[in-house]
Amino acid sequence: MISLPSFSKKNKIKTIGVLCSGGDAPGMNAAIRAVVRTALDRNVRVFGIERGYAGIFKDRIKEMNASSVANIIQRGGTILKTSRCPEFHQKKYRKKAAEILRKFSIEGLVVIGGDGSFRGADLFSKENNFPVVGVPGTIDNDIPCSEDTIGFDTAVNTAIEAIDRIRDTASSHERLFLVEVMGRSSGNIAIQVAIGGGAETAIIPENKESIQSIVQTLERGISRGKTSSIIIVAEGSTSGTSYEIAKKLKKAGHDSRVCILGHIQRGGRPTAHDRMLASALGGASVGYLCEQKKTGMVGVWKNETCFVPFTKVNQSKSRFEKSLVSLAKQLAT
Ligand code: ADP
Ligand code: F6P
Repeated sequence: MISLPSFSKKNKIKTIGVLCSGGDAPGMNAAIRAVVRTALDRNVRVFGIERGYAGIFKDRIKEMNASSVANIIQRGGTILKTSRCPEFHQKKYRKKAAEILRKFSIEGLVVIGGDGSFRGADLFSKENNFPVVGVPGTIDNDIPCSEDTIGFDTAVNTAIEAIDRIRDTASSHERLFLVEVMGRSSGNIAIQVAIGGGAETAIIPENKESIQSIVQTLERGISRGKTSSIIIVAEGSTSGTSYEIAKKLKKAGHDSRVCILGHIQRGGRPTAHDRMLASALGGASVGYLCEQKKTGMVGVWKNETCFVPFTKVNQSKSRFEKSLVSLAKQLAT
């Protein structure tokens, strides 16, 4: 169970904005709800900004109240919508954004998003002396300095549910399936899905595996009577795309079917774990912002809520638990 920091109810900031940026993730709504309700509890006004950073320039800024976030904790996606905003890469637009926010009396911003959004937030904050707290929301779980991100648990569960279904048809037809999961350049989703879904192996960016070694794994299974197999391929695999791997396996005598799970992993009801994480981090973000006027990311480290300056987040590498690769191999033998 995640532990929380304690805050007083003294505010240095009276009005904040909240937005989602980058790819959506299940649990973002629970985080928005936590930001709004915690802020109101501190007598801080909250404005919701729609469509990420882009919404600042498009007049998509609306004051929120407790009812604005009623009945959303269980919904995937984000009621504020999200987007990628190329303009935000330019200093002049970041300056303009600060001017617009100040016109609404907004003195601090909560950004729910991924590491790209935090790089933008860091620049924006430094250039305009504008406090921003980031809440890690991405299915990829690839944000440095936080061992968990909102949406990861749901995406892994969604993928495992899909794999359970694929296993039925794989088993009936005695087939090999390559199942591709998301994760951008991280293999965090793939390795957990491989272990939880009982797959033969995971082909991930962090551990380049030769076709020969994949074939060996498959043939070891066949020699002990296995008639169907599932291999998880991370979309960021450096061993080629799922279709390229399938072609090479066919040449080595193993026919397969490819199934790309894609955006299915980004939708759906957030798990209890993601709702809890989103509530904890969303709530804490308001404390750091309003009481301490801080700039940085609120994350999880050793099951405790932590606060890390964006500069450190942006200079660090995302975590990958290498020991899970050996575990996946041991369990597949
Ligand atoms: P994520 O936050 O999920 O990693 P992106 O990398 O697509 O998603 O970033 C989301 C948005 O954050 C971008 O569209 C842009 O508006 C902003 N952003 C990302 N990187 C930078 C950067 N280096 N400078 C300024 N803004 C950035
Ligand atoms: O970052 C979340 C994510 O779903 C990645 O796993 C994936 O690579 C990317 O976003 C897909 O982005 P888009 O929805 O723009 O295709």
